[in-house]
Amino acid sequence: MSKRGLSLFVSAIMLTMFALTGCGGGAKAPEESKSVESSETAGESKSEEAKSEVSKDASKLIVVGYAQVGAESDWRTANTESFKSTFVPENGYELIFNDAQQKQENQIKAIRDFIQQEVDYIVLAPVVETGWDTVLQEAKDAGIPVILSDRMIKTSDDSLYTALVCGDFIKEGETAGHWLEDYLKSKNVAADEKINIVTLQGTIGASAQVGRTDGFANILGQNANWNMLAKQTGEFTQSKGQEVMESFLKQFDDIDVVVAENDNMAFGAIDAIKAAGKTCGPKGDITVISFDAVKAAFDAMIAGDLNASIECSPLHGPRVAEIIQKLEKGETVDKIQYVDESYFDTSMDLEKIKAGRAY
Ligand code: AHR
Repeated sequence: MSKRGLSLFVSAIMLTMFALTGCGGGAKAPEESKSVESSETAGESKSEEAKSEVSKDASKLIVVGYAQVGAESDWRTANTESFKSTFVPENGYELIFNDAQQKQENQIKAIRDFIQQEVDYIVLAPVVETGWDTVLQEAKDAGIPVILSDRMIKTSDDSLYTALVCGDFIKEGETAGHWLEDYLKSKNVAADEKINIVTLQGTIGASAQVGRTDGFANILGQNANWNMLAKQTGEFTQSKGQEVMESFLKQFDDIDVVVAENDNMAFGAIDAIKAAGKTCGPKGDITVISFDAVKAAFDAMIAGDLNASIECSPLHGPRVAEIIQKLEKGETVDKIQYVDESYFDTSMDLEKIKAGRAY
């Protein structure tokens, strides 16, 4: 039995004993106690107070520790907000939030702190895929279920986590590739015309980076005229994206396409392209494709700077809460849950779509 299961069991026993000893004339559902309380005298309400303390304990908040990657992008901010607004006391939760500033060692330390604090669940958005087995074994030994959110891990022991909810990053990379195929066709670009591409990669080793790079490479492999000039990490940040793009523009004077593995790096790349005296977007010299589809990406598409953004949903708070609620009821959950995602480009009614989006 998990620690939380044990504590609920003890609380239930206490409630039963309370009822059997006759205090207050038998067990009542919390709603019943509440309505009796309001019409009883001060003397009687004392024993009601004691009862409500017991029921408060029985329905104690579910404590969730969230080991977040950092605050490197608009997507990440929306993801943090999704957890902070979902895991609130009104919904029955206490959230312990940790921002690891994009460092795996900080996430490992946060998980160890959560174990020490005896949280009920640990949620981990792993900054990179590897290196988690030891600390997740410690969580398992402590009887604390771990839910992976946003990114995957590489492990030979799947029992180290209970469930995973995230985007299908390989599919996202392939969607970007298919989008480019269709776009070039729509521009009547000849099948043998060389298309020079650069990629601003995410944090190397993060499943979002690995999947998007591999997915795009799958489609590049089917297009003999696509030429990947260079790939380099921009760490998923706008400033690093800009810096790397500046260096690409100095090295290559014939870039046709930029694939930025998130919107913020694309924003940095757009600034670098403009500063170099070039243009981008549907009417410009360079086609820019990115991932996430945050609201600022819609603005960049509407402004004509960005061609397309492949959706990656950050709204994992309610999805993880649903998993926890099922686990609380003893139900089984799907081990791997991919979120359905789409893409957006300048051929669409972006103002209208943006108005209906949460991030
Ligand atoms: O793991 C999701 C990625 O992480 C998002 O694309 C990026 O913006 C974030 O930093």
